[in-house]
Amino acid sequence: MRIFKSEEKLSPEYVPPRLPHREKELSLLETFFSSYMAGRPAVSVRVLIVGAVGTGKTALSKLFGRKLEKSSSQARYIHINCRIHTTLSSILKKIVEELGAPIPSRGLAAEELGAKLVDLLERKKMLTVIGLDEFDGFLHSDPRGVYTLLRLGEEADREARVSIIAISRNAEILEEMDESVRGVFQAGVIYLEEYNHRQLADIVEYRCSEALYPGVMTEEAKNLIVEMASESGDARYAVELLWRAGKYAENEGATRVVPEHVRKAAASIYPSIKREVLTYVSRHEKFLLLAAARLLLSSGKSHISSTELYQAYKVVCEEFGAPARAYTRFWEHMQRLEDLGLIRIKLGKGESHGRKSFITLPGIPASIMVREISALLESAEGE
Ligand SMILES: Nc1ncnc2c1ncn2[C@@H]1O[C@H](COP(=O)(O)OP(=O)(O)O)[C@@H](O)[C@H]1O
Ligand SMILES: [Mg+2]
Repeated sequence: MRIFKSEEKLSPEYVPPRLPHREKELSLLETFFSSYMAGRPAVSVRVLIVGAVGTGKTALSKLFGRKLEKSSSQARYIHINCRIHTTLSSILKKIVEELGAPIPSRGLAAEELGAKLVDLLERKKMLTVIGLDEFDGFLHSDPRGVYTLLRLGEEADREARVSIIAISRNAEILEEMDESVRGVFQAGVIYLEEYNHRQLADIVEYRCSEALYPGVMTEEAKNLIVEMASESGDARYAVELLWRAGKYAENEGATRVVPEHVRKAAASIYPSIKREVLTYVSRHEKFLLLAAARLLLSSGKSHISSTELYQAYKVVCEEFGAPARAYTRFWEHMQRLEDLGLIRIKLGKGESHGRKSFITLPGIPASIMVREISALLESAEGE
């Protein structure tokens, strides 16, 4: 008996046709873009989606894009990863390439390329929604480019054919924008909350039914996946556990996925905190980890805010005689540490208004982190 009916439906790139517990947000996007859905240009729409890792930001935006393209033959959705494409010129080239547009981009300044793109859209009566995923990358490296892209084709006598969905896991991203850019997004922010236990149970059930043969997944294994993923509210972790547990079962020639396969899957994802992982971490990232661990220890809190952490990080930098990095660089470091599984960035309610980012160490005692990082930093100093 085989395990997987369609293994590819658990791959990270795959976007399911339905996103349980994101129906409201999907229909909100459809409302924001209703004129585009009807194939009519209108004023530009700019939406910002904010949420922690694994809350479905990328999947939601791509699924919306698919619906948009189905509803109007003039509309195109283009998804761009701004960690790879960090400048206006690189983003415009990517758009031109995705559209297969006959615009030679070589030797053109970004502004000229933008103007040609707008002309083409106008001639072909096309409408585009650009999904700018990991938007921080673009905002931090080319803030003027962000402004230019937002204003593309906004000239008074033209119809708006370029709209934007920006995506970030940074709760403070609005504050990092210039006033002119912030104003553009402020009206359309969608916060994705972390999934709770019940929601993850539905998601795992659905993803199982798509990818695995019926009856292969035991209730116990499914419950364990949900249990493990609901600690962080992270659907990505749930889907990855599901796929890996299935692989372990398959490799053993088992006929069903049982909890032991899930435990093996979990152990293979974040091999807890190993010294090897810490060797991939740069000096400033070590400062940041040390600051986080010390602050968590001394405050006795389970989470610290990113602004508190930045202050503590500056203190550590001073201690080691290194100039502190700017806040935006600090954010890049935080995202990398989260990708390595060393910290977790959550979205929480701030004191006054809006949301704030909070940082935790998942499953790593802060005292051990302090000891390990201090030792590594000291041995590096001695070299
Ligand atoms: N509501 C949902 N229903 C089904 N699968 C989901 C849902 N939300 C997220 N996923 C899946 O979880 C994984 C992570 O989602 P993703 O959109 O990449 O999160 P983010 O971009 O917020 O980090 C993807 O495999 C995605 O398909
Ligand atoms: Mg994403």
